[in-house]
Amino acid sequence: MKENRIIEGFSRLDKLEKLKLIAGYFENREELLAELKSYWHDDPGKQKLFDEFSENTISNFYFPYGIAPNFVINGKTCMVPMVIEESSVVAAAASSAKFWAERGGFQAEIISTKKVGQVHFLWKGNYRKLLETLPELRQKFLKGTKNITRNMERRGGGILDIELIDMTHEIEHYYQIKALFDTVDSMGANFINSCLEEFARIMKEFLCGDDRFEGQAKDCEIIMAILSNYAPDCLVRTYVECEVKDVKERDSDLDPERFVWKFQKAIQIASADVHRAVTHNKGIFNGIDAVTLATGNDFRAVEAGGHAYAARSGKYTSLTSVSVENNVFHYELTIPLSLGTVGGLTSLHPLAKISLRILDEPNARELMMIASSVGLANNFGAIRSLITKGIQVGHMKMHLFNILNFFNATQIEKEKAIQYFKDKKVSFSSVSNYITDLRGNRLTM
Ligand code: MEV
Repeated sequence: MKENRIIEGFSRLDKLEKLKLIAGYFENREELLAELKSYWHDDPGKQKLFDEFSENTISNFYFPYGIAPNFVINGKTCMVPMVIEESSVVAAAASSAKFWAERGGFQAEIISTKKVGQVHFLWKGNYRKLLETLPELRQKFLKGTKNITRNMERRGGGILDIELIDMTHEIEHYYQIKALFDTVDSMGANFINSCLEEFARIMKEFLCGDDRFEGQAKDCEIIMAILSNYAPDCLVRTYVECEVKDVKERDSDLDPERFVWKFQKAIQIASADVHRAVTHNKGIFNGIDAVTLATGNDFRAVEAGGHAYAARSGKYTSLTSVSVENNVFHYELTIPLSLGTVGGLTSLHPLAKISLRILDEPNARELMMIASSVGLANNFGAIRSLITKGIQVGHMKMHLFNILNFFNATQIEKEKAIQYFKDKKVSFSSVSNYITDLRGNRLTM
């Protein structure tokens, strides 16, 4: 970047002007411009759609879109679309899926699907009085949001509960209207936020107009109205299980008992130590985020809620747990997942729509079970590698492709490199040396 200045009116420029302005900061302006433009969609209609998802767009950022086949979930086989840039994740999901498909597959169940939204406000008036009027206020909230809730109720959802919460032990005069929602097959953020903003308006209006609160309405200050991405009541449980003797790794020296013992230790460690727990859970989100992205859902919401859930006891810990009883190995994941299959990007992004078709048009509950199964699969694959051959063998093999692409290797060079590194350690420098030697004809195969 050449300059260090504030840009005024950037959003008002058209796309090409924005692109030129950005490229203008760099010496190879024309090259950069052409590179960024080369990722525009050929079809202007489709490009417009992508541009309208966000703001100030100048190009598209591509991520790989892969498939992990052979997921057997509650007896049904499916192919799972995954969007992820990290090598080995799709391979690990696919390998675990196949492993468990041969052992009964994944069992998943929805524990609950309630979502939370809050109106945060300060109230200097009489709390008892406010609490007494809650049933009345609740009716006003329900009536006043009928226009918003009508469709959702038709689909089987809506507002489930409305509470008044005293939070003054945390912050002076702080209270909440805390509401529970069922948003059926939509993630429901817009629905929930619209209801909450209406609650806030109705409450203020009610306090102003009601004799019982004469002179006190000014004592109510709405701070904000927003859904919570912490969704501990939108919960899914997924598990795999088989006899200990069947947890046999094809290419591992460990016998099943030793494998299971080491596996249990790995989970104990992830439960005991926060540094390990975060990495352990990250491996779960490798799979969950990839499905969340592929289906046009909000992976930031899913991540934030999942990590908060992992810390619900006050200590951040593993999201999975393992047990062995009567010689049966049982491994499970319980996680909050707020996902949708209608509305939002799920219905707009052409590839999200295709993902849902590949998944046989699941409803939100089914998608929760699919995503959690992929999360468990990825985590199982990671632990299996970590306690046996380590992750670098598999990782570096996939990484070899990335390094080869970095050196713009041709197909023939790639094939030679794959052959060469079959029994050698892959590192950036080893591949770099290999390519240099190969191109200098200093290497004979
Ligand atoms: C890498 O993306 C994920 C792992 O680090 C997860 C783990 O350590 O369990 C392999």
